[in-house]
Amino acid sequence: MRSSIGRRISLSIFIVIFLTVLIFEIVFVMGVNEFYYGGALGILSDKALSSANFYNMYLRYEGLYNKASTIMGNYEEYDKAELQIVDIDGNIIMSSTGYLHTEKLDVSLMRNLEVGEIYSWQGRINITGEEVIAVSTPLIEGNSIVGYLRFVSSIQEIKASVRDLISKAIFLGVFILVLSLILAVALSRSIVRPIRHLTDVSRNIAGGNFDIVARKKYDDEIGELADTINFMTNEIKKSNNLKNDFVSSISHEIRTPLTSIRGWAETLSENSIDTEETKQGIGIILNESVRLTKLVEELLDFSRFESGRINMNFEKVDLNLLIKDILKQYSIKFESKSLQIVSSLDQNITYVNGDGDRLKQVFINIIDNALKFSHEKGMIKVTTASTFKGANVIIEDNGTGIPSSELPHITEKFYKGKSKQAGSGLGLSISKEIISLHKGTFYIDSVEGKGTKVSIGLI
Ligand SMILES: Nc1ncnc2c1ncn2[C@@H]1O[C@H](COP(=O)(O)OP(=O)(O)O)[C@@H](O)[C@H]1O
Ligand SMILES: [Mg+2]
Repeated sequence: MRSSIGRRISLSIFIVIFLTVLIFEIVFVMGVNEFYYGGALGILSDKALSSANFYNMYLRYEGLYNKASTIMGNYEEYDKAELQIVDIDGNIIMSSTGYLHTEKLDVSLMRNLEVGEIYSWQGRINITGEEVIAVSTPLIEGNSIVGYLRFVSSIQEIKASVRDLISKAIFLGVFILVLSLILAVALSRSIVRPIRHLTDVSRNIAGGNFDIVARKKYDDEIGELADTINFMTNEIKKSNNLKNDFVSSISHEIRTPLTSIRGWAETLSENSIDTEETKQGIGIILNESVRLTKLVEELLDFSRFESGRINMNFEKVDLNLLIKDILKQYSIKFESKSLQIVSSLDQNITYVNGDGDRLKQVFINIIDNALKFSHEKGMIKVTTASTFKGANVIIEDNGTGIPSSELPHITEKFYKGKSKQAGSGLGLSISKEIISLHKGTFYIDSVEGKGTKVSIGLI
């Protein structure tokens, strides 16, 4: 594992599981010990106490040796426990095994015992080396302690069982640790791998490869990041396309008028031309300069809209008056194409709230399009109608119309479709922006070969 986040994840998971397993093992070992040793000790103690109690009561005034003989006589060896009678000095005077230990017991700790109390000991028998537990409890004669009743039991078997259980538990613990380590590594990989993939993708994008797609495996935070990266590359691609569209569309739009200006300027610089031609040339130079100025203004507007630096001056606008002005302004152009202009203006409209200059710009753009895409002797119809909230303006023509494949795109920036007409492709896009800043509605219907209808709703 090279990456540190993967190592951190697997390490922390491993540490948590390790500690859990460790605590579990400790508790388990303690529990097993308590259960086995404690259990064995409990049984022996109960046995010792009940026997001692019994004989202390019924043989209270018998001497130790007499007591011992009776006790031994009645003892049945169930539990492989050895029963011993020990005198006050620690000599084992009788044993249920018959074997008399020569060794003396250390009774210093038993001396403090009261009747009915137990002293327990765990250790090794010196001669056999066997591990045992022993419990001792006092025997009395009259009122004084004269010896002890002692049970001794081997714990070899218990030890073996305990050891067996503990080793099984340790084995299980190690198994869990190994398994958890594998799972932790797998988990951290499953997190780190997609991150690494996204890093690769980002690096590619930074290097200019915008066609790369970030893979999304799960619908989690990393998947969301992949989506965001893909969205980002798409946006970059779009803005790249916009830039390319801009350059190709605008350089064409600039070149055409420049070519004719230059051509006429060259022609005019030759002295031999007549006044008629001079007039025509200057007229064209003027027209083309106007066209260039209009283009530059559209570009400036475009950049203002793009950067959001557009100021609207809202005021009360007389829509009908505005439309009448524009139609008057365009009358010569309409005549030159022999267009029939039909206007139907609703006198009920009072005022709408808007930026007069910007609204004028919108209607000019649309009427300009209608003019541009109309056939000779065509018809343009301008209608205004008051509505519940404000007013509608509808501008219709029976010109070329727009192919249905182009219709969804015509309000995109720099989009001109198949049109060979002069224009930046910005007019409708700017118009739509302006209307949306007025919180108005903007619809275009068109049938190719039949005509186009632009409807604008204002409030
Ligand atoms: N009235 C219309 N009739 C036919 N086509 C139109 C009309 N208005 C717009 N279009 C189409 O929509 C395109 C975009 O229009 P616009 O944004 O005004 O740009 P431009 O006029 O500079 O070409 C035009 O190039 C043309 O293809
Ligand atoms: Mg236009």
